[in-house]
Amino acid sequence: IASFFQPKVLASRRVLITAGPTFEPLDPVRGITNLSSGKMGFALARAAQQAGADVHLVAGPVALDTPWGVFREDVQTAQQMHDAVMQAVVDCDIFIAVAAVADWRVDHVSVHKIKKTADRKMPSFTFVENPDILAAVAKLPHPPFCVGFAAESGNLDVNGEEKRVRKNVPLLIGNLGPQTFGRDDNEVALFEAGGVTKLPRADKTTLAQTLIGEIARRLPDTSL
Ligand code: CTP
Ligand code: CA
Repeated sequence: IASFFQPKVLASRRVLITAGPTFEPLDPVRGITNLSSGKMGFALARAAQQAGADVHLVAGPVALDTPWGVFREDVQTAQQMHDAVMQAVVDCDIFIAVAAVADWRVDHVSVHKIKKTADRKMPSFTFVENPDILAAVAKLPHPPFCVGFAAESGNLDVNGEEKRVRKNVPLLIGNLGPQTFGRDDNEVALFEAGGVTKLPRADKTTLAQTLIGEIARRLPDTSL
């Protein structure tokens, strides 16, 4: 009901969002993942839908219900997330990369479960880098308005702006990862060319609504 009264700041906009972790297999029963819960990305998908947008959510493995009215596509690996995004990004107005994408995967996934050996020799893995989904979208000839997220564990002020410039996106939302993963609240800072804006700690639902408002007012004006 409350959403009915909210201004439809994203009416007729198409929004693509990635959320959650990725899972990179090592063998048929094991893999590498991270502590992202997907809550922030799902809250943003819900908030964007309530703001009138047509929302496509590409989700890694998470235990969350699909927000009402949102089109959800489930993926497992970074490569699958990349491929789903590159397919869906055509005609999008906004891309919000919230997913905690694994930076590396093993170069050869074992076909069989890796077993302990009699001599107790430890397995070793060779890693290769995963595609950078946000950077790939930002490099498109006509990119949507790209928003990145950064979960840092150290100096957020320095790393946030450095990362925004490196990814070539107009807006990057930074937080301190260990203080938000899995939690229901979050404290973020907005990095953009003009400087940094800190938002007060809030629950992820409220924060998502605020962030959607902040994104909406930064969109290039396409009205006739
Ligand atoms: N991202 C992405 N694809 C990747 C890695 C990151 O789309 N392969 C996106 C994330 O969704 C996020 C932003 O890029 O919006 C920043 O992710 P982060 O992991 O903080 O950046 P990295 O460039 O991977 O740097 P770091 O070495 O700090 O992990
Ligand atoms: Ca990373």
